[in-house]
Amino acid sequence: MTTRSDKITILDFPRWKEKGERIVMITAYDALFARIFDEAGVDSILVGDSLGQVVLGLPNTLGVTMEDMVRHTGAAARGTKRAFLIADMPFLSFQAGPYEAVRNAGRLLQAGAESVKLEGGRAVEETIRAITRCDIPVMGHVGLTPQSVHRMGGYRVQGRDTAIGQRLRDDARAVQEAGAFSVVLEGIPADLAAEITADLSIPTIGIGAGPRCDGQVLVMQDLLGLFEEFRPKFVKRFGELKKPVEDAVRAYAAEVRGGTFPGKEHSF
Ligand code: KIV
Repeated sequence: MTTRSDKITILDFPRWKEKGERIVMITAYDALFARIFDEAGVDSILVGDSLGQVVLGLPNTLGVTMEDMVRHTGAAARGTKRAFLIADMPFLSFQAGPYEAVRNAGRLLQAGAESVKLEGGRAVEETIRAITRCDIPVMGHVGLTPQSVHRMGGYRVQGRDTAIGQRLRDDARAVQEAGAFSVVLEGIPADLAAEITADLSIPTIGIGAGPRCDGQVLVMQDLLGLFEEFRPKFVKRFGELKKPVEDAVRAYAAEVRGGTFPGKEHSF
């Protein structure tokens, strides 16, 4: 029997869904934080393309490249022992067709990911099929898909009206039928997320999709209270780390300027 102290694999996801055990996922982009989260016992670590905003200072995820994702996936993989590691496929790494998508998904696995995640529903069905046919596990991502920011006219909750709600149900089904082992539901009404979760046999991981998904994911800088540029309603800050970090750096600057650091105990 698998316990949550064993190495987590793709086989745990259907078991958790069956048993109704909630799945805990968090983003990480480097070895240091991946190690901390791994040791804290999360089930899964996502090297998200949110890297663009929260690490690289970009305005959105569209400028994130495969080189960025390979580099950061490798770093996160070196810090992860137990959690299941998923890497996002960035914009233009899969949209141009299944052949390129397979090659790019493979590069992320070579960097240390155990699965890739890609945005889209029915439009990416064939791509998901092609990647999973190569034995690369795929997580889907439906609803508010940040790489479609310009089509959506901004980061808006999706599926509030019946027609789009039905489209999202169909998208989630299509992703499952194409072979995805799990799907992220982002920025959709809680009732719709609950319906999709009940309809699917694969686990749903929610972000801004209410409490009735099979698991939850948050961006680490949001959860830790480190990122202030953008604060969506669905974010709960489980820490307020910006202030202690600032305080520590201010104290350091004051001691350097005041000549009290380094002291004798820090000198050779
Ligand atoms: O890029 C990311 O961090 C994500 C999660 C927010 C789901 O896709």
